[in-house]
Parts: sequence; C-alpha cells; structure tokens
Amino acid sequence: MVPGFSHALMALAMIGQASAAPSHARSSATCGTVQFDFPAGTNKNDPRAEAVKQAYVREWNEYSKYAFPNDDLLPITHNYTNDLFGWGATVVDAIDTAVVMGLTDIVEQQLKHIASVDFKKSAYLVDFFDVNIRYIGGLLSAYDLIKSGDFPNPYDDDLVEALLSQAKSLATAISPVFDTVTGLPVANLNFTSGELVQSTTTVNGTQYNSTNTAQAGTMILEYYRLSDLTGDESFREHAQKAEGYLINPSPAPAFPGLVGTELDTETGKFITLDGGWEAGVDSFIEYLIKTYVYDRDDSLASNMKDFWITTAESSIENIALHPYNQPQITFLSQLDVNGSIMWTMDDYACFAGGNLLLGGKYLDRPDITELGVKVADSCHLWYNQTLTGLGPSSIGWYNASNQPYDSSYNNATYRAEASKYGYFIEDPSYRSYPEPLESIFYAYRVTGDERWQDYNWEIFNALNTTRSKSVPYAEITDVNEPYGGTLVNYVSSFYFAEVLKYLYLSFAEPDVVSLDKYVFNTECHPFTIKKAC
Ligand SMILES: *[C@@H]1O[C@H](CO)[C@@H](O)[C@H](O)[C@H]1NC(C)=O
Ligand SMILES: *[C@@H]1O[C@H](CO)[C@@H](O)[C@H](O)[C@H]1NC(C)=O
Ligand SMILES: *[C@@H]1O[C@H](CO)[C@@H](O)[C@H](O)[C@H]1NC(C)=O
Ligand SMILES: *[C@@H]1O[C@H](CO)[C@@H](O)[C@H](O)[C@H]1NC(C)=O
Ligand SMILES: *[C@@H]1O[C@H](CO)[C@@H](O)[C@H](O)[C@H]1NC(C)=O
Ligand SMILES: *[C@@H]1O[C@H](CO)[C@@H](O)[C@H](O)[C@H]1NC(C)=O
Ligand SMILES: *[C@@H]1O[C@H](CO)[C@@H](O)[C@H](O)[C@H]1NC(C)=O
Ligand SMILES: *[C@@H]1O[C@H](CO)[C@@H](O)[C@H](O)[C@H]1NC(C)=O
Ligand SMILES: *[C@@H]1O[C@H](CO)[C@@H](O)[C@H](O)[C@H]1NC(C)=O
Repeated sequence: MVPGFSHALMALAMIGQASAAPSHARSSATCGTVQFDFPAGTNKNDPRAEAVKQAYVREWNEYSKYAFPNDDLLPITHNYTNDLFGWGATVVDAIDTAVVMGLTDIVEQQLKHIASVDFKKSAYLVDFFDVNIRYIGGLLSAYDLIKSGDFPNPYDDDLVEALLSQAKSLATAISPVFDTVTGLPVANLNFTSGELVQSTTTVNGTQYNSTNTAQAGTMILEYYRLSDLTGDESFREHAQKAEGYLINPSPAPAFPGLVGTELDTETGKFITLDGGWEAGVDSFIEYLIKTYVYDRDDSLASNMKDFWITTAESSIENIALHPYNQPQITFLSQLDVNGSIMWTMDDYACFAGGNLLLGGKYLDRPDITELGVKVADSCHLWYNQTLTGLGPSSIGWYNASNQPYDSSYNNATYRAEASKYGYFIEDPSYRSYPEPLESIFYAYRVTGDERWQDYNWEIFNALNTTRSKSVPYAEITDVNEPYGGTLVNYVSSFYFAEVLKYLYLSFAEPDVVSLDKYVFNTECHPFTIKKAC
C-alpha cells in the first residue's frame, strides 16, 4: 500500500527453479467461485457488525467536527492536516464504507463535498500513487456500490454521477506523469507549474530516475475500471504500457516472479533485486491476480495471472520460511537489494494471506490456498501475542541455522522475544494498518471457518480498548506497552477505508460485497467485476 519504503545474489543458476519445481497441472477451470457456500441466514443481525458501524459513526463525527473537509484528522489536538493534496482524502476514502453500512446521511454529506472539489488544482506536490489508490479508487468504488442496487440509494443522481466525472477529471489532470521516455509513471506532479518531480535511487554509486514497482503496477485495476465506465481507452493504455515492463522484467529477478522494488524510468530496467510481498512491490503482485478476476477475457490480464502463478509458486519454493524451531509459523521473507533472503517481513506483506487465498481459490490451486491460510494465521500471531492485542509494523526471525540476516539482530532482547513469540519485533508501532485484518477477512469468506471472525472481533476490541484510553483512534508507538505507549496525533484516511470496512464485512452477511461480484483495490475499495463467473 505504501510504495515509498523499500527496505533492502542469487546467481542466475537460481532462475528457473520454480519451473523445475513440482509442476501443478494448470487447472482448466480458470474461473471459480471464491466464497464459501455459506448457509442461508449466516451472520443475520450479527451485533458485531452493528458495533463496527457504531465505531464508524463515532469516528466520522469526530472527523466531521474537527477536520471536515480537510484531508486527515489530528485526534489529540482536535485539528486537521492537509497531507494528501487538500481535496478531503478522508471524505473520499471513507465514503464507500458508509455506503456499505447504509449510513445514508453521512454519504449525503460526503457526496456534496466530493461534487464541489476542483480536482484539477492543488497547492501541494501531488503523488500519483495516493491519487490513484485513495481518490480514484474511492470515487469509482462509491459509484459502483451506489449504482449496484445492493445498497440504499436515496441520493441525488447528479451527485452520484459526479463521482465518476470527478474520477475522470482527476485521472486526466494527473496523466502528465506518464509523459516519460518509457511510459513508466513519474512519482509526483506539481499541479501549479505542470512540472514532473522524479524520484531517484542510487545504486552502486549511480543515481537513476526511478519509480517503484508498486507505483508502476498499481493503477491497472483502477484504470481498467475507469476506461470501462467512461469509454475513454487512454487510461487502460497508460496502465498497460507500464505493466509490460513489470511482467517482462529485465534483468531477471533473483527468484522467478519475485521482482525488485525500483525501476529506471528512462530505460524500464529493474535496478534493484529486493523482491518479496513487502512495501514497494506489494500491490503490483496483488493486482496481477485481481486484474484477471476483474476481466478474465483481457489478454494482458491473462498474462498477469500467469506471472502471479509464477510468483506464488516461487514464494512457496523460495521465501515461505519457518523461523528456527517453529514449523507451525510460515512467513514470507523480503529480499535485500542484491536479492538475498533477509528473514524479515513488514506488515504490508501480511496482505499476501488474503491475496493467495483469493487467487488460489479462483484458480483452484489448493497448494496456493494452503500457503494463504498459513500466512494469515502467522500474521494473526503478530496481534494475538502482544499486550495490546494489536500487531507491530515489522518483524524478523532466526533462520534454520538459528542466525539472523544482520548480526546486530543477535542481541539478548531479540533472542528473548524470539523464544517467547517465535520471532522478534523490529518496529513495535501500530499505524492503523489493515493488512492482517484483510487476510483474516478473506480467510473467513473463502473457508467459512468462524475462527477467523473471532480473530477480527478480538482485534476490533483491542482497537476499541487501546485507543479509548485517552483519545480514541490515535496511532500508537508500541504494541507491547499498556495502551500502546505514546499516542500519535494522526488518523489515516485508510483507517476508515480499510480497517473499518474489512472488520464490518467480516461480520456482515457474506453476500454483502461478495467476492464473487466485487474485486477490491489495494485501499479496500470494491469495484464491480466486469464479468462475474
Ligand atoms: C489547526 O491547524 C491549522 C492548519 O495547520 C493551523 O493553522 C491552526 O493554527 C491549528 N489550530 C490549532 C488550535 O492548533
Ligand atoms: C509548484 O510550482 C509552483 C510554481 O512554479 C511553485 O511556486 C511551487 O513551489 C511548487 N510546489 C512544490 C510543492 O514544489
Ligand atoms: C532525470 O530526469 C530529469 C528531469 O526530470 C532529467 O533532467 C535528467 O536528465 C534525468 N536523468 C537521467 C539520468 O536520465
Ligand atoms: C550493482 O553491483 C552489483 C555487483 O557488482 C551488480 O550485480 C548489479 O547488477 C549492479 N546494479 C546495477 C543497477 O548496476
Ligand atoms: C549489495 O551488493 C553491493 C555490490 O556488491 C554491495 O556494495 C552492497 O553492500 C550489497 N548490499 C547489501 C544490502 O548486501
Ligand atoms: C489470542 O487468541 C485466543 C484464541 O482466539 C484468545 O482467547 C485470546 O484472547 C487472544 N489474545 C489476544 C491478545 O487477542
Ligand atoms: C542463516 O543466516 C546466516 C547469516 O546470514 C547464513 O550464513 C546461513 O547460511 C543461513 N542459514 C540458512 C539455512 O539459510
Ligand atoms: C537489538 O538489535 C536491534 C537491531 O539492531 C536494535 O534496534 C536494538 O536496540 C537492540 N537491542 C539491544 C538491547 O541491544
Ligand atoms: C468501544 O468503545 C466505546 C467508547 O469507549 C464504547 O462506547 C463501546 O461500547 C465499545 N464497543 C465495544 C464493542 O466494546
């Protein structure tokens, strides 16, 4: 979800390992039902869904009172910040959650604001990645959900149509980012001067103009939807051109399907080998299978699906690892810039559980689904074992020879944590991250096993208790201190978009935003699948 943070040689001999691995016959069923066949009446009137809805109402009211229509709420000082270009990020990110919950008065307030924004102007330097996942994703999702007939729609038609016209207006305004030699998008655009502001990465002493993999590979789902809804093919074409560099990587990645995080925007070549499912790569992998679920008749989407299968098989083969003496735990390691295994994992990579479950079920690949369950279970441990019941931002572990990646990780504190938890905590903060909740939600919808609902209910209660101590909803600095250590004066818009939506949907009736009718963008914004199975 956040592309900016990249963390970190396998010889060419390693390449081809996945294809040499036991080959699973490609199933002829390339389109399958994702959701478990739930009995009628499942979750009817579940009070847990109502409790999450009440949390949304309380927290929206707080935002509305102190921050509306600015980007984000500062909950401790009762103020706001405009850190997402000043168009009201929380309003746009939060609206589809309110639609799904049937909170029509709140949606009305949100629709009116959205129709009034001039998305062609911003006093801030505009970041393409966040524009796409939060704003364009949020607008298209609210449009699809309201138009679906699945939710109450007492709204003024013009306000609903404005969701789509505003998405198109914003995507058009940001389109100069594609104006590079390769067509790979530049990270930032100054809306006032029209100036493109390149990101740069220095490798072996040379500075490259660069984009990261998540940035280049995450707009494709939103842009396919936008082209399909507006009839304007230019969005699809931009996304397809960028995607081509990613699924035909040059040079080859350290392990098949596990591309690095940084590309040279001048040549389209990868300049680092730090693959894995972590920040910087994450939503590129996520969209490989989701674009196929969205439009399985599209030929590029079909190639993306094949690349995703390689990524999943290579993950099983190379980076799905158990900590020393903990065979019941399975983590997905990140690789360093030279492609070496690090035995570390960030919170972002915890989305992999849900993504492997979605793709494994859709493609009828039980080996992939099984890895999804293991990763979802292992990420749940991050939450279940702490004092607050909330999970840390990143962890690491001792490998099969009982050694860490970095010798400085060999200290008494980390050793003690590893003997207690099975891994050590690298970054103990909790920043309203949704990924473990997301994977738990998928695990519930795919397997039907109620234990996953119990996990998300425990997490909801941990959030509610930890954050109610003084000021609700603030981020925290240490998941193992009472009430989370120090409260951070910030509520991210993705708390409304993702955390509350995944929690709510875990307890709502399973046909509310069914995974067989909708596919979610990386910010938890559901789009109507073009051609459902
Ligand atoms: C609230 O934030 C605004 C914008 O940053 C600032 O101008 C104002 O002084 C702040 N108000 C308080 C009471 O801190
Ligand atoms: C954007 O460009 C304008 C006009 O050239 C300039 O004044 C402003 O400082 C730039 N903004 C950023 C954030 O670079
Ligand atoms: C990087 O981009 C800037 C313009 O944004 C350009 O002036 C510069 O030549 C580029 N650098 C390389 C190495 O291509
Ligand atoms: C950096 O140096 C390493 C070791 O020589 C080499 O394998 C790698 O390809 C270099 N990376 C780039 C982008 O030049
Ligand atoms: C990667 O390889 C380069 C070139 O050999 C080396 O300078 C650098 O220290 C290595 N980086 C890591 C994180 O291992
Ligand atoms: C851990 O999970 C168990 C079983 O679901 C539960 O009883 C316990 O309360 C959980 N602990 C936390 C901190 O969530
Ligand atoms: C564990 O890590 C150490 C230090 O990085 C390395 O030398 C060793 O080969 C690794 N063991 C395994 C089984 O990967
Ligand atoms: C253990 O190692 C980590 C990572 O280098 C470091 O942040 C931490 O402070 C160390 N703890 C102690 C007690 O040395
Ligand atoms: C969550 O916290 C609020 C505020 O403290 C409280 O009113 C509400 O009952 C709590 N919800 C649950 C389900 O415990």
